[in-house]
This record gives sequence, structure tokens and C-alpha cells, in this order.
Amino acid sequence: MAEREHWLAGRVAVVTGASRGIGRATAEAIAREGAHAVVAARGVEALDATVAAIRDSGGRATAVPTDVSDASAVKELFSIANDIGPPAALVCAAATLERESFDEISLASWEYTMSVNLTGVFNCCRAAFTMMRNAGGGRIVNIASLSGVYATEKFPGLAAYNTTKYGVIGLTEAIAVEGRSCGVTAVSLSPGAVDTDMLRRANPSLRAGVTAAQVAAMIVTLLDSPFSIASGANVPLFSNV
Ligand SMILES: NC(=O)c1ccc[n+]([C@@H]2O[C@H](COP(=O)([O-])OP(=O)(O)OC[C@H]3O[C@@H](n4cnc5c(N)ncnc54)[C@H](OP(=O)(O)O)[C@@H]3O)[C@@H](O)[C@H]2O)c1
Repeated sequence: MAEREHWLAGRVAVVTGASRGIGRATAEAIAREGAHAVVAARGVEALDATVAAIRDSGGRATAVPTDVSDASAVKELFSIANDIGPPAALVCAAATLERESFDEISLASWEYTMSVNLTGVFNCCRAAFTMMRNAGGGRIVNIASLSGVYATEKFPGLAAYNTTKYGVIGLTEAIAVEGRSCGVTAVSLSPGAVDTDMLRRANPSLRAGVTAAQVAAMIVTLLDSPFSIASGANVPLFSNV
């Protein structure tokens, strides 16, 4: 039986946080399925390395250095993506994690975490939403965290980070409601401990249960599925390898 083509094949997908970790693994996995990966993060060299790895494997990718907390930079990111083709998929993986005990969090640090992890997702989703609606639809996957899921184990020093992840899950649900009438779907994915730089910063003693490549494979599977009836859902990843 002939293999069915992946939904991503021939489409344009924007991936934030694609200079390393889950975002980079996702960009690579998305490009392997035939999408043109438009990759965003701040680190120019690391982003170029992502693009080089994708192109070396025969895929298509474009780097657009972007700070997701900067709305005008995000507008430029989506304008460049749209010149390649209307963005059909968006994966928001960019995030920061500052570990500080609750009574020591400065307002500046709190606002910085909010601006990247929550406003950054808002900036990207809003820009993508308009283009997706105008093109007749699109699929969004936002990376939240088990840190943003009620009644999971929480760790000290992560009040700001955890709060943003609760926000990402709520924002995704809101986008799904408004996307229903125009073919835009949105889900959030909430991993536990994934083997990346961020995990080592968050809690060096935590053992990773999954790899970035496994999370990327899950994202690619979600993007290929007709998940409109599950739009708005948060998918928690509890499993250990
Ligand atoms: N690792 C885990 O255990 C785990 C668990 C649950 C959820 N998550 C979530 O999974 C996602 C990916 O995390 P990861 O573990 O892969 O982290 P990571 O290795 O630290 O990568 C974070 C990515 O975000 C980018 N980034 C940070 N600030 C940015 C900004 N202002 N604008 C644009 N890009 C920015 C970084 O690139 P630059 O520094 O070059 O900008 C990098 O590409 C995050 O949303 C994280 O919260 C991770």
C-alpha cells in the first residue's frame, strides 16, 4: 500500500525556540516530513546550525532570528514566513526559565518570564492566527509543561515559570474557541522532564523521562492528525522511557 503523504508535506511551518532542545528537534522532524521550517530564536549561530542540519538532510529551512517577546520582531518573522508560503503550522517552543525563590523574584524578572513564555506565545499565535484564518485554516501546537498542570508535582523556585505554563494552556484553549469557525486548531502539549539544557537549569537532579526527539515526534504526529475535535486540549506527557 502506498504511504500517505504527511499533512506537513509542502506546507510552511514556523517553529520558535528552534535553536536547541525541543524546538530544534521539532524543526528537524517537521522538515523531514516535507515542510519548509521557518525557525526562530535569538541565537543566530545556533539557529544557523539548525538550518544547516536540516538542509544537509535534504530539507528546507529558513532562519529568522527573533525575540518572541518583541511583537514587531514577531510580525517580521511571520511576514518572512508568509513570503515563502502561508504558515499552515506553528509550534511555540521558545521559553525561558529563571530559578528564584518566591520571595526573591524581582518584578523585572517576573515580567521577563511572562514576556517570553506567555506574551511570546500570544505574539506568535496572534500573528499566525490571522494568516491561518485568511488561508482557510492552520494548526498550532504550544509547548506548555506539566508545571502548568494542576495537581502534578511542583518544584521550588519556579513560580514565574509555572504561572506562564498555566497561562499557555489557558491561552491555547481560548484560541481553539475562536479558531473553530475558521479552521484554526490549537493544542498544548505538556511534557514532564525532557533531556535539554532547560531541564538542567530547572533541576539538575531531575532525571529526564523523555528525549527532545520523542517530544518532537509527538508534535509531528499531532500536526498530522485531524485534531479539530480535540482542539483546545492539553496533552500531558507523563510517560518515562
Ligand atoms: N526540558 C524540559 O524538561 C521541559 C519540560 C516541560 C516543558 N518544556 C518546554 O519545552 C519548550 C522547549 O524547552 P527546551 O527544554 O527545549 O529548552 P531550551 O533547550 O532551553 O530551549 C529554549 C529555546 O527557546 C529559545 N528562546 C529563549 N528565549 C527566547 C526569546 N526571548 N525569543 C525567542 N526564542 C527564545 C532559545 O533560544 P535562544 O536562547 O537562542 O533565544 C531556545 O531555542 C519550552 O517551552 C519549555 O518550557 C521543557
